Amino acid sequence: MGFDRFLHWLSDTPFSVTMRESIWAEPIVETVHVLTLTVFLGFVLLLDLRLLDVAMRRWRVSQVFGQLNVGMFAGFAVMLVTGLLLFSGDPVTFFSTIFFKLKMIMLALAGVNVFLFNMTLGRRMAEWDQAPRTPVAVKAVALVSLVLWVLIVSAGRAIAYDLPPP
Ligand code: HEM
Repeated sequence: MGFDRFLHWLSDTPFSVTMRESIWAEPIVETVHVLTLTVFLGFVLLLDLRLLDVAMRRWRVSQVFGQLNVGMFAGFAVMLVTGLLLFSGDPVTFFSTIFFKLKMIMLALAGVNVFLFNMTLGRRMAEWDQAPRTPVAVKAVALVSLVLWVLIVSAGRAIAYDLPPP
């Protein structure tokens, strides 16, 4: 089954029809999506600012990670699920917008950024965790992360302006 056919199949499922036609489903799911954004992005911001040596410098990076990781991953999980629910409400239309595609590409890039950090600099955290300043490469990862998340949120907001009139 091609991706286009998959989107049309999804669009015809009872779940998708309910998401589209119910007065409450979409506003509730979208509200949860946006509220969780504040939690998730708040935690990401704190972590990135620590990596940039801007905030919470009295704590080691590993301590900050240890405290914020759970909230960040929980927030991400809810964002992912609510995002998928919103998408399944009108998959063909959402996928036709450039901002949805850009958002998905940047989400993938943010994932690659985290993966590469965990595979390289993150593995050697004990080597730089006690130093007065974080390495430049670590700061670069944090900066890339911040820029990507700002662009992801902007693209998410822009989807609504790219949808065809009802
Ligand atoms: C985890 C990171 C994510 C962030 C930071 C994010 C951010 C946002 C933002 C800011 C909005 C705009 C809300 C508004 O206009 O009131 C939005 C809407 C939306 N998001 Fe996400 N999102 C994320 C994940 C996802 C995922 C994984 C999907 C689907 C695969 C998704 C699908 C959607 C859809 C379909 C909308 C609705 C657009 C509309 O009706 O205007 N999101 N998102």
